[in-house]
Amino acid sequence: MRVLVTGGAGFIGSNFVRQTLETRPGADVTVLDALTYAGSTTSLDGVLDAVQFVEGDVADAELVGPLVAESDVVVHFAAESHNDNSLADPSPFVRTNLVGTFTLLEAVRASGVRYHHVSTDEVYGDLALEDPKKFTEDTPYAPSSPYSASKAGSDHLVRAWVRSFGLRATLSNCSNNYGPRQHVEKFIPRQVTNVIDGVRPKLYGDGLNVRDWIHVEDHNAAVWTIIDEGRAGETYLIGADGEMNNRDVVRLVLELMGEDPDAYDHVTDRAGHDRRYAIESGKLREELGWTPRFETFRDGLAATIDWYRENEAWWRPQKEATEAKYALSQQVVG
Ligand code: NAD
Ligand code: DAU
Repeated sequence: MRVLVTGGAGFIGSNFVRQTLETRPGADVTVLDALTYAGSTTSLDGVLDAVQFVEGDVADAELVGPLVAESDVVVHFAAESHNDNSLADPSPFVRTNLVGTFTLLEAVRASGVRYHHVSTDEVYGDLALEDPKKFTEDTPYAPSSPYSASKAGSDHLVRAWVRSFGLRATLSNCSNNYGPRQHVEKFIPRQVTNVIDGVRPKLYGDGLNVRDWIHVEDHNAAVWTIIDEGRAGETYLIGADGEMNNRDVVRLVLELMGEDPDAYDHVTDRAGHDRRYAIESGKLREELGWTPRFETFRDGLAATIDWYRENEAWWRPQKEATEAKYALSQQVVG
């Protein structure tokens, strides 16, 4: 099988490439990645020689057309992925997430190739802390940030191309991923690398916002399940019942790293900060038989902390610039 992975030098895409090479030895993998600040071939260390790597933009139709045509399946991870960046400058989010997806869809339409669209639970907006409900495939779209609005728009493009042009496409909307090779701008890697540097973790606002954590390997196993078994045109929500508020995550990071669990700072809150995400993944589990392999967040987090301790050379080059950017908009408030 010839697999085209967009965004394969990013956090989730590079894990997907590794998992694919391990579990499907016959697969012929091509990575298309623009190597933005968030992508690096170092995320493919050890497997780069086993793939065809193409540096380029998913919004470049001339590049994308032939790559798609020579594939059996396209798995689209490439995106601008960070909410805080989308608040500072939404323009690359519109270009990559909307125009990039449109460009891929047109290439897929021309060649009739199978397509899987990787998306986020953030397209559904947020839930109240006390709300007993979780997101399902029927929850109305209500994105809050430029990032989530651009992902919601990309989902709508896929759905329209399925309905109007009969694309053989599936979509997945997953909750917050954690694991190795996540950029230090994101919540968990930022705190872990802060603690390594002797800096106190930074919690936005009151720290009570809830995210529904899933290990990146479980996310990608679910993506393969959907590609193999999912019904064309369908959306599947991916989640592992991992709800936890940010304060408890920070306290656990500190505890696992041998520090005082209360040694964190509150900083300026994120504008429009979604309060809670929670995924009901019954459709994926019951229809397609997927279950998560990482049973406890604590064990997965401990392994992730070990990875950052052992792989400083991977994250160190990004750390200073990331913190300098945060310092422009965030101040300690308590
Ligand atoms: P990431 O920011 O770590 O990686 C994105 C990758 O896409 C990078 O390698 C980057 O170089 C590449 N890229 C960006 N713009 C590009 C362009 N125009 N052309 C080609 N490549 C480009 O992101 P991630 O966290 O790995 O997320 C991957 C996908 O999963 C995204 O679509 C995101 O919306 C979705 N998702 C992420 C999470 C999460 O918790 N991180 C959860 C659910 C869904
Ligand atoms: O839900 C899926 C989404 O999860 C993905 O679509 C996004 O690509 C991914 O970035 C993630 O979005 P979040 O905004 O939830 O992730 P982030 O890591 O930026 O923040 C997680 C929570 O932690 C959020 O409530 C904001 C908070 N936070 C974040 C940072 C960076 C802090 O309290 N302190 C921080 O320093």
